[in-house]
Amino acid sequence: MCGIFGCILKEGNAAPVIHQALKRLEYRGYDSVGEATIHEGKLYIKKDSGKIDEVHKIHNLDDLPGKIGIGHTRWATHGAPLQVNAHPHLDCAGQIAVVHNGIIENFAELRLELENKGHVFVSKTDTEVLAHLIEEALKSNPFLNLADAVLDAVRKVEGSYAIAVISPKEPNKIICARNESPLVLGLSDSALYCASDIPAFLPLTNKTVIIEDGELAILSSEGFEIRKISDSSLVVREPKIVDWTPEMAVKQGYPHFMLKEIHEQPACLRNTLRLQEHYLDLMATFLDRAKEVFLVACGTSYHACLAASYMFSKLAYLATYPVIASEFMEQHGKSVNIDSTILAVSQSGETADTIAAVNVARQRAATVLGLTNVIGSTLTRISRVYISQQSGPEIGVAATKTFTSQLSVLAQLALRLAKKRGKISQDEMDFIEAKLKKLPDIVETVITTQEEKVKAIAKKYKDSKVFFFLGRGISTATAYEGRLKLMEIAYVPSIAFPAGESKHGPISLVEEGFPVVFVCPKDDTHKTAIGNIMEMKARGASIIAVIEEGDEEVKRLADDYVEIPKGVPDVLSPIPFVIPLQLLAYHMAVEKGYDPDKPRNLAKSVTVK
Ligand code: F6R
Repeated sequence: MCGIFGCILKEGNAAPVIHQALKRLEYRGYDSVGEATIHEGKLYIKKDSGKIDEVHKIHNLDDLPGKIGIGHTRWATHGAPLQVNAHPHLDCAGQIAVVHNGIIENFAELRLELENKGHVFVSKTDTEVLAHLIEEALKSNPFLNLADAVLDAVRKVEGSYAIAVISPKEPNKIICARNESPLVLGLSDSALYCASDIPAFLPLTNKTVIIEDGELAILSSEGFEIRKISDSSLVVREPKIVDWTPEMAVKQGYPHFMLKEIHEQPACLRNTLRLQEHYLDLMATFLDRAKEVFLVACGTSYHACLAASYMFSKLAYLATYPVIASEFMEQHGKSVNIDSTILAVSQSGETADTIAAVNVARQRAATVLGLTNVIGSTLTRISRVYISQQSGPEIGVAATKTFTSQLSVLAQLALRLAKKRGKISQDEMDFIEAKLKKLPDIVETVITTQEEKVKAIAKKYKDSKVFFFLGRGISTATAYEGRLKLMEIAYVPSIAFPAGESKHGPISLVEEGFPVVFVCPKDDTHKTAIGNIMEMKARGASIIAVIEEGDEEVKRLADDYVEIPKGVPDVLSPIPFVIPLQLLAYHMAVEKGYDPDKPRNLAKSVTVK
């Protein structure tokens, strides 16, 4: 997730307007920043890595000349947060500047083609191909205008993008285009704006036009025009007035970041399907060679590791050890050696316990692999290979979208490994891959159809003093995560364990009305899970079940239930099944009058041991 912005002013300098707009978009990414403007037929550009204020202090982002310009605030996906990778990106001649939010899936092939035609690339980004594609289009047909060249370029790319392009060849225009990344226009009497998000221009105008997927917009000093990318046909769309306050706008109308981030999960999951294949392959090769594999993390990321241990075992027949990072040294420190591989999972890439565990492993010559949401973080610097989970910044303290993204990446990794080890038939591989691709839609369905039900459940149980969360098999990880969410933001003491453990102690707590949340997909554990539900019910527990749609057996036993669409394979089930549990924690916190975005005593990144 990055933020893009562009403006054409009737009077004054664009640079300070861009700078302020990028500040308002900083929640979308903040590892690098850049601006480009046009003045008297020349392109001016400033960019660097670092937060906007830091870069401004060094480079003064306000002193670029010209009434027209574009800007970008970055959250790295391809290429580390370095000056060379910061946007805007230019073509060979330095005549086309592009800012981009999204992921170009076929950038490696396009880059090779363009390099073979003599284009010289300077960055490691996927974005740079766009600048060269536009340049190539103009070179091969000098009669094309800038908008046509951008059309030509975006028709060649696969993936997600919101882009804004300027060129001194047509100094009064910004061309922007969208596919699966947000893009809006802002209109006022004195200026035209394009941006990733409304907050960028909200203090300047509340008159907006939403650009839809598959559309390109041409902004000029005369106004704007929208065209379909597929056939260049004209689209007519009336502006709308938004009545959001700036605070509401940053949260896109949601009352809290946590809810916004829960709702962003379908989009984040789509992004995780755009990983660079060779990193997955490389990591799978390291895992394949390892004598022993430790999956090391804290909190929610540890739950992703726990789920991953089932994925690796079920798909690739690889036994792994999920370990809580703060225990790693004591539990395994001495046994780790050159044949060990550590896969560290940390959305921030900075968690002190995780980094400490990794450092212990490095000292003992083990191979370190990383999965993180922050390129440039400590974890990316100390890992032999890392994968970026591409969730965009998460502002709510409670991890939600970063958890489901981690699960998706880990499932893809397990599939790769399974293929490498010959442990999975092509049919099974195709089947699970097809289901992975459907998950964003399934998660969307869960959110849209089940949220009201979950809200009612939160209301009903808001005074309960303690909760159980139970699951069997891979759903144990989902249950643990449901418990953590409820405890950390709604402050409800909760207990989670594999359902089979109930009768070894915890069941003694159960009495009339005791709420027990069962994560109960229709997998191989279903029959036994029903037995566990009956045990609880016989002691008066109130059963809240997360079930597969149409699971009549569990519906009859449950006091309340929420349904997940059918047909999700067991190894992927934590992704949709955790959604109602995230929503339960959120609505419970709101019911009890707590701020879910700022749970007491917690920080987003825990950098102390
Ligand atoms: C819970 C939560 C924490 C983190 C944990 C690890 O909602 O966010 O439990 O999961 O602190 O953080 P990372 O993934 O940044 O290492």
